[in-house]
Amino acid sequence: MFWTKTFIPTLKENPQEAESASHQLMLRAGLIRMLMAGVYSYLPLGLRVLNNIEKIIRDEMNAAGAAELLLPALQPKELWLKTGRDEILGEVMIKFTDRRGRHVCLGPTHEEVITDLVKGYISSYKQLPLILYQIQTKFRDEIRPRFGLVRGCEFIMKDAYSFDRDEAGLKINYEAMRKAYLKIFKRCGLDFLVTEADSGVMGGSVSHEFMVPASEGEDIVLLCPACKHALGYKDKEEKCTKCGTQMEKINTLEVGHIFQLGTKYTSMLGANFVNESGKLLPIIMGCYGIGVSRLVSAIIEQNRDDSGIVWPKEISPYKAVIISLDSGDGAIKQKAAQIYEELEGDSIDVLFDDRDERAGVKFKDADLLGITYQLIIGKDYLKNNTIELKCRSNNEKITGTEEMILNKLKGSISG
Ligand SMILES: Nc1ncnc2c1ncn2[C@@H]1O[C@H](COP(=O)(O)OP(=O)(O)O)[C@@H](O)[C@H]1O
Ligand SMILES: [Mg+2]
Ligand SMILES: [Zn+2]
Repeated sequence: MFWTKTFIPTLKENPQEAESASHQLMLRAGLIRMLMAGVYSYLPLGLRVLNNIEKIIRDEMNAAGAAELLLPALQPKELWLKTGRDEILGEVMIKFTDRRGRHVCLGPTHEEVITDLVKGYISSYKQLPLILYQIQTKFRDEIRPRFGLVRGCEFIMKDAYSFDRDEAGLKINYEAMRKAYLKIFKRCGLDFLVTEADSGVMGGSVSHEFMVPASEGEDIVLLCPACKHALGYKDKEEKCTKCGTQMEKINTLEVGHIFQLGTKYTSMLGANFVNESGKLLPIIMGCYGIGVSRLVSAIIEQNRDDSGIVWPKEISPYKAVIISLDSGDGAIKQKAAQIYEELEGDSIDVLFDDRDERAGVKFKDADLLGITYQLIIGKDYLKNNTIELKCRSNNEKITGTEEMILNKLKGSISG
């Protein structure tokens, strides 16, 4: 992609509205723009990051045997009356009446819709187990939308639901999802903690939260400094149950939450199946959420330096950015364009900074954007036939012939 053909409105100054490091960087690097409080547009770079995160999630969900579907955001309120969650969610649910007089809401979550769907088609133990997931926009009228994508009123969630005939089946699926989550967050380049949590409005018993330590995170976790055992913070600090050490409070962002729901929704909505001995029983459910758009914030919170974002390899919006430092006669730009074509020909997605900007501006922007590798083509190419490769994570630079540098880049990308 040519920089001049895409839309990357970088900012030199920190915007006033930005409340946290990740929020500042997202705005400055041109990833998102606010339409109104808690509601954001994803600009081309932000969308590429989101797509990379979604690809990792899809890979691991599919590998764990879950099937993707897409449920409606627009939902009849009567479905929510059946579980009583319209009351529990209260003002968080965005609801209105349509022109037909139907009472509708914009889905804040999808347990009701998926249980109602499955109810119509699952009737026998032979059809179980089943795991379904979607990546979809949720709507929640949050009291305090904050920190850009951390807490939005419109945000993207991956939600998965497992359906089983017995507790043993639920345990197997829950474990498969838990393991998939570990792989997903690792591939996202995150340091994270897993805590046993209170399942709150979701109901059910066992639940785990996936928490990313971040200085401005709103969720408090108790962490044992000795054995690293982690626990959701209630109201007081405790001693670690594993080793007796006094636990420490740390700020985190919740990026994932998994629950063993049991029969809470299926019994209320009448989603039953007939077991081997002909008995009618409610299906046993689990639900598994990931804050997809919040992950963008969490990844930036943990992967940045004073100059900007430092994307983990798999998340970087482009594999490399080509910086051409023109000297006036167009020879350098021509070379840069040729290298761009070669990389694109090898299916390596690169961003070509073809703007007529000063070197300083291009370097600053490249560091701000945080693309994993920078390929710098300047006067040295005309003098010595050499170009430069900079690795954003350690700021190390190597200089060499075009052939050597491109081989190095291709090797690093595939390795
Ligand atoms: N308002 C929001 N904005 C962005 N992401 C959110 C928001 N609310 C929840 N999420 C993400 O979706 C995941 C699943 O949601 P859930 O656990 O139902 O939310 P909550 O913890 O607020 O009850 C959370 O772990 C979090 O990462
Ligand atoms: Mg949660
Ligand atoms: Zn301990």
